[in-house]
Amino acid sequence: MSDLEKTLTVTNLNSGYATNQVIFDLDLEVPENGIVALVGRNGAGKSTLLQTLMGFMKPISGDIVYDGKSMIGMSASERVKRGIGYVPQERPVFSDLTVTENLLIGSSRQRKGVRNELDLAFDLFPKLADRRDQKAGTMSGGERKMVGIARALMGSPEILIMDEPTEGVWHGVVDEIKVHLVDFSKNHAILIVEQNLDFVLDISSEILLLERGVITKRTSGADGAAVAEVKSRLTV
Ligand SMILES: Nc1ncnc2c1ncn2[C@@H]1O[C@H](COP(=O)(O)OP(=O)(O)OP(=O)(O)O)[C@@H](O)[C@H]1O
Ligand SMILES: [Mg+2]
Repeated sequence: MSDLEKTLTVTNLNSGYATNQVIFDLDLEVPENGIVALVGRNGAGKSTLLQTLMGFMKPISGDIVYDGKSMIGMSASERVKRGIGYVPQERPVFSDLTVTENLLIGSSRQRKGVRNELDLAFDLFPKLADRRDQKAGTMSGGERKMVGIARALMGSPEILIMDEPTEGVWHGVVDEIKVHLVDFSKNHAILIVEQNLDFVLDISSEILLLERGVITKRTSGADGAAVAEVKSRLTV
């Protein structure tokens, strides 16, 4: 792989909470384009991993390198400035702010570019355009997820890190989100955490199974036997 590519490379990462290590010796690479999916059951450590990648948690050890530079010690906002967008699993919106205000917070642009970015976000999710002046806290769970995704995109990220973006979202909207993600991934990278294996199966170049903080299986969606095994380990 060329050094010029903007890859995210995680090496030998250990992370967790005071007395509770959650992530163990984890290696991971997200190439410049395409989608890498991380699946795992409740409590496997998926969100802990993403929070560590974003700098909300300090790792115990290991390295997180993006675009050739280690991000250890960088704040979350510095990571966002370096081109990393994040859609959190919980509380993806500021409840007291309107949809538009939520989106503006995600923007990295000066005034001039903002209008364009807002238009793009509303094109992406027309439902949000109808609700632009509504307080985000009064939106449904699925709508709030859309705001979270649109806000992350407002920062024009190079790589989007998403924590269960389809959780609680109506299947019609899930299909829409999928189309947008595939489109985005043609020229950008996505690391997506999902419990919904079917959602990521046909769109990811690699699927990683996380079990108790360890990646126990790496496969492409094309390997039927491996996918069946991942599926069974997710549901048992
Ligand atoms: N603040 C915390 N302090 C201590 N332990 C925590 C804390 N937050 C999470 N944990 C524990 O860390 C483990 C991993 O949690 P995490 O939220 O990363 O799982 P997850 O894979 O994202 O699960 P889910 O699919 O339910 O979102 C769990 O055992 C959880 O109880
Ligand atoms: Mg989680």
